[in-house]
Amino acid sequence: MPYFYWGLLTLLNKNFIIMQYDVIIIGSGPGGYVSAIRCAQLGLKTAVIEKYKTFGGTCLNVGCIPSKALLDSSEHYHNAAHTFTTHGIGLKDLSVDMPQMIARKDDVVAQNTAGITYLFKKNKIDSFEGLGSFVDKNTIKITKTDGTSENITGKNIVIASGSKPTALPFLPIDKKRIITSTEALNIKEVPKTMIVIGGGVIGLELGSVYARLGTKVSVVEYLPSIIATMDAGLGKELQRVLKKSLGMEFFMGHKVTGATTKGKKVTVSALNAKGEEVNLEADYCIVAVGRTAYTAGLGLENIGIKTEERGNKIPVNAHLETAVPGVYAIGDVITGAMLAHKAEDEGVFVAETIAGQKPHINYNLIPGVVYTWPEVASVGYTEEQLKEKGVKYKAGSFPFKASGRAKASMDTDGFVKVLADEATDEILGVHMIGPRAADMIAEAVVAMEFRASAEDIARICHAHPTYTEAIKEAAMAATANRAIHI
Ligand code: FAD
Ligand code: NAI
Repeated sequence: MPYFYWGLLTLLNKNFIIMQYDVIIIGSGPGGYVSAIRCAQLGLKTAVIEKYKTFGGTCLNVGCIPSKALLDSSEHYHNAAHTFTTHGIGLKDLSVDMPQMIARKDDVVAQNTAGITYLFKKNKIDSFEGLGSFVDKNTIKITKTDGTSENITGKNIVIASGSKPTALPFLPIDKKRIITSTEALNIKEVPKTMIVIGGGVIGLELGSVYARLGTKVSVVEYLPSIIATMDAGLGKELQRVLKKSLGMEFFMGHKVTGATTKGKKVTVSALNAKGEEVNLEADYCIVAVGRTAYTAGLGLENIGIKTEERGNKIPVNAHLETAVPGVYAIGDVITGAMLAHKAEDEGVFVAETIAGQKPHINYNLIPGVVYTWPEVASVGYTEEQLKEKGVKYKAGSFPFKASGRAKASMDTDGFVKVLADEATDEILGVHMIGPRAADMIAEAVVAMEFRASAEDIARICHAHPTYTEAIKEAAMAATANRAIHI
């Protein structure tokens, strides 16, 4: 065939003829599956490749959903054991059936992952089970568990391969006694003692699960504060309440240096702020020191993508496109908060970008939540960030101990804090710790998306008695120091 025709045919094949898909998505976590559905809604022929048997990624299988299922179960037990009598409810022979608690959690996971299978079918999305790796920028090889493989081609590729737990180089995880969050979701007994390395979100949520069931939980944290990236007041209050209500112990400013197992016991060594060695012993040790972007097996080297040295993240531009045109990346594998809702919004963003639309994500208004009790929730700038930026702001707070609703439910720990611009009164940040904060933060996000002032919230009618009245009161306190109930 003359060179010209061969060249033309290759060009046609590459761009117009034999591409099987408009979009191929690698990974079916909240980033990948949401992106696939949005692509399909926009009329793009879409395929998803997932290496695990079930869809939903970390979030549905070993993250958000199972952890919340166990948090709910353990909260019921804790209330039955500690607050029911005050409510006038007597219970005899209260016990924990751990295998049943885990089985219910597994059932919740199964319902959710099956939901994704249904949504893929409904939206006519093709799915492939296997490891997806780049052959070239349009061709993905799918290697199945039986060793066979097939190639599929797409005009656009979205990498949504997520993250995995970060391991400390000097502390090998044996998955039996020294475990990650994944194994901590499947312990079929109530341990007597547990050490949690890391006072971040995972450590405090899973630490709470076991502390509520009766485990003596010790948190070893390198920094002087827990949940250190959130507004400083939140970590202080959370630590106080977890100590008081669950008996959790905190070793702050302790740098873990190693851990050893002997039979059914783990010993964790750490250096305290004075540089002295401290040894702690427990039945289990959860290592929860962050998560690292997961890119193993993707074959990024075959298309010339290099990950960042710190955190292994895939670099992307403002359109979430990598250095290779037509190859996008979203969710935990790129920069930013490692949160399911951030991954979902990026999934939609990329789908709409590929379809020729001009979507937008406001990264400053992605809420952060910790599902302890009391719950912690936050959006916008912290006081520390505003001080660092030199922004003049007003702060208004309202404690739940002054809320009628919180008194009725005996959930009086915590507060809401509203930060507003000193000159314009625009809300710059809302930080709360208290009952149902995870749900209440939505009001603050909506207000801030519409650039509301603190006075706007103060003048909006809030139903009585609700926990949300605390937001209104904090806004009133911020706007003109005119909170009514304090
Ligand atoms: P993931 O959910 O990690 O999904 C990536 C998928 O890609 C995986 O299924 C993986 O198997 C697949 N994959 C990877 N490489 C390949 C390949 N080469 N071929 C095929 N498939 C591949 N976030 C919240 O917002 N709220 C919470 O309450 C919350 N709780 C959490 C609790 C725990 C214990 C943990 C660990 C995390 C929690 N998170 C929570 C974080 C949340 O799970 C992640 O931010 C979210 O799952 C990221 O979504 P993703 O789509 O980027 O990646
Ligand atoms: P994290 O980053 O929240 O916390 C890790 C903590 O470990 C930090 O406080 C850090 O100072 C500490 N640490 C690190 N090295 C240490 C050492 N050697 N010794 C002692 N302490 C050390 O990470 P985490 O909790 O593992 O969570 C990972 C990700 O998962 C987070 O980014 C979070 O966004 C996401 N996640 C979100 C949830 C939610 O939205 N509710 C729930 C669970 C996880």
